[in-house]
Amino acid sequence: MTAIPDLNLTHSRELWERARQVLPGGVNASARYNAALGHAMFFERGEGAYLYDVDGNRYIDFLTSHGASLLGHGHPAVAAAVQEVLSRGVMAAYETQLQVEVAERVLKLFPGAEMMRYTCSGTETTWHALRIARAYTGKLGVVKFEGHYHGVNDTVGFSHWPKLAEAGAADSPVPVPDSAGIPPYASDLLTILPFNDVTALERTLRAEQDTLAAVIMEPVNYDSCAIRATPEFLQAVRALTSELGIVLIFDEILSGFRVCAGGAVSASGIYPDMTCLGKAFGGGLPLSAILGKRAIMEMCTPVGPALQSGTYNAPPILVAGANAFLREVTKPDFYPTLDALGQRLYNGMREIFARRGVKAWVQGVGARFGLLFGLDSEPRNYRDIAGQDWELARRFHLGCLKRGVYLMYKSPHHGYSIAHSLADIEETLDVMDSAAAELVQ
Ligand SMILES: Cc1ncc(COP(=O)(O)O)c(C=O)c1O
Repeated sequence: MTAIPDLNLTHSRELWERARQVLPGGVNASARYNAALGHAMFFERGEGAYLYDVDGNRYIDFLTSHGASLLGHGHPAVAAAVQEVLSRGVMAAYETQLQVEVAERVLKLFPGAEMMRYTCSGTETTWHALRIARAYTGKLGVVKFEGHYHGVNDTVGFSHWPKLAEAGAADSPVPVPDSAGIPPYASDLLTILPFNDVTALERTLRAEQDTLAAVIMEPVNYDSCAIRATPEFLQAVRALTSELGIVLIFDEILSGFRVCAGGAVSASGIYPDMTCLGKAFGGGLPLSAILGKRAIMEMCTPVGPALQSGTYNAPPILVAGANAFLREVTKPDFYPTLDALGQRLYNGMREIFARRGVKAWVQGVGARFGLLFGLDSEPRNYRDIAGQDWELARRFHLGCLKRGVYLMYKSPHHGYSIAHSLADIEETLDVMDSAAAELVQ
């Protein structure tokens, strides 16, 4: 365990010791183990842009629930919407008018999407989306990109951040399972490609067109520190999948609503056949959804043959959260306000690292960013970020933490919310300046 002078984490450590006896690793999700500290932190409450830990420390939050809290913690509109459903008796597994209304509103924001199904976690969402795409095409193969993350399911649980020694050549990577316990044969149906490589994409899609059901991708690869798809790559993936009868799935679980009220690359005019939503979509509550063209979505039971059901599909409490969320993000000043915060934060960070002589690249796209120590140019795919300087990152993160700025060490992405104020960003930049100064001492 790393003790940080000037930061009292006594109760966090005590709780973690207790938690370890009943929760593997003392956590409920492995991403919550803080590898920089050597234990998990325990929080008492969240309020807007702030987190309060069990030792009474306040932090400006730049994890924002791995992207789920785009409205900040405890947004009053979400809380009121949930209260209203609570007063009607929760009703976990029934159809209500609310689910229809919210679906209508969501579909208006995603051009080309005509129908949707609600789901809960992102992991189940990509897995169901791929099943539906397989049912639609009658084919089983899936292309995913190295460095992209689509949850922990066995269908696509490969090659998120593989060790380079195991990952094969840069232009034809081999699938590397993200976990023990994934059946090796799962990779027989998976082709891993480098992101933003039009040549490798075209070569593979043409060669495997008879077996490929779907290409799944993050249109902004936040799970490798916010790498953008190049315009040429976006155009190529859309044109080739259309030509070859392959379903194009944008996994917007993280990128959706991050840049605008809709898909992250919707300004390009390139739209997928299916979209996966999650995280921010529920206003901080665990709600996801699969969107797609009518002919594809009607593969779902009870209309078509792809079994899609679940006790916790669309509980009104969660859908109410999404309803409140959609109202907030469609207000005219929402994205201009969010963008202004990002501009100040990203430019301020760049200025600090340049002035302090710290080699770090700030890759900001909408309300989330990658912070890449050891890089000095824009990354194009996973191989470009694989060699980042984790020791420098660890020291920077601890330097921020003890001064009241919460960044999660080794998270591929960080982000802010609409509840952050410009004053919070200025305070953060002051903290980052001190943490950067400490790095070069
Ligand atoms: C792009 C993307 N897809 C899928 C998932 C999985 O979502 P969940 O953690 O809700 O299972 C994540 C989570 O980080 C994600 O970033």
